[in-house]
Amino acid sequence: MKDYINWAILAPGTIANSMAAAMNGAKKMAGGKKVRTYAVASRNFERAKSFASQYNFEKAFGSYEELLDDKDVDAVYIANPHAFHHDSVMQCLNAGKHVLCEKPAGCSVAQLEDMITAAEKNSRFFMEAMWTAFNPTLAEINGTIQGGKIGELKHIDSRFCNRIPYDPKNRLYAPELAGGALLDLGIYNIYFSMMLNGFAKITAHSSNVRLLNGVDVWNSVNLTFDNGVTAAFQSAADMPSGSDTHDAIIFGTKGFITVKNFFMTQYAELHLYTGDSGNSNKKAAKIAVPFKTNGYEYELIHATECILEGKTESPVHTWQKSRNLCDIMDSLRADWQMKYPWERS
Ligand SMILES: NC(=O)c1ccc[n+]([C@@H]2O[C@H](COP(=O)([O-])OP(=O)(O)OC[C@H]3O[C@@H](n4cnc5c(N)ncnc54)[C@H](OP(=O)(O)O)[C@@H]3O)[C@@H](O)[C@H]2O)c1
Repeated sequence: MKDYINWAILAPGTIANSMAAAMNGAKKMAGGKKVRTYAVASRNFERAKSFASQYNFEKAFGSYEELLDDKDVDAVYIANPHAFHHDSVMQCLNAGKHVLCEKPAGCSVAQLEDMITAAEKNSRFFMEAMWTAFNPTLAEINGTIQGGKIGELKHIDSRFCNRIPYDPKNRLYAPELAGGALLDLGIYNIYFSMMLNGFAKITAHSSNVRLLNGVDVWNSVNLTFDNGVTAAFQSAADMPSGSDTHDAIIFGTKGFITVKNFFMTQYAELHLYTGDSGNSNKKAAKIAVPFKTNGYEYELIHATECILEGKTESPVHTWQKSRNLCDIMDSLRADWQMKYPWERS
């Protein structure tokens, strides 16, 4: 029986560099021997060749079709902009490849359902690359909350606000590439709130948005879960928030946890109230588990093991969790009357 997976990267752009570094880093970790850096495919052969050489991939292709035709490619990490995920995922699954697709896997629940159906029909593994789900510091934070250290969980506050100068060609600002802060950044705020709250159902939301060029460049969202826990977040492409632009605070009845770079955290602090005022608290613990490589290695090893075990769905980042994420993003966009070009009839 095969004990390794030949990974290929489709679309070697910005984030693919981080995944390729993680693939190489993973080879030194427990379970990492199962990861082989096999092929890279770009629309531009020179880009594929140079990327393959930089990250030790055996083969470089100047088209995605060549990757699909290579019978030795077992699994594909898809890293093109959101708008192309649907077609790339469908092509890979229908060609018999397993798939790890960058977030958001689908730009809508409808797109995601097509992918899930194709994974089922072809008996191939398919997972959205929600690396936050596999973050070891977040696992400890979750354990701290479940263990009752902050008392009863009440509220989750987070920000993912960037300040990237307006450029209509940047995928974040381009409606045809499914741009906007929500799908690119806010997806993490939603996932983070869901994850810390045991994936309770979201029963209500309210929001404000600033649209530019047909995409949301700033949004501010409140979520209410069916257990009464609330979450508030901002995500922005062109404006930092007042402070701590990538941080989060998780509030409970006995204390709170501050989380640096919540979506890729390696550092958090537990504070316990010492009086009636929130200002009166003491730092009780540091929660910090450094990445082995750069944080992408955990989802990669998980996907590799799932594939080798013959699974089509991750037991951790399940299809239902991807559906729930997409569902809330669909409903926020519906409120904002924000449609991508292919959604307009
Ligand atoms: N997990 C994370 O931390 C993280 C971080 C950043 C981004 N992401 C996700 O990763 C995905 C890619 O983001 P990125 O910033 O890496 O993208 P990017 O660098 O702009 O583009 C990645 C690749 O996609 C293809 N591409 C770019 N623009 C295209 C266009 N207009 N038409 C067709 N193909 C195009 C190109 O592939 P070719 O080489 O084949 O031409 C390019 O090399 C997105 O879904 C994003 O949400 C995830």
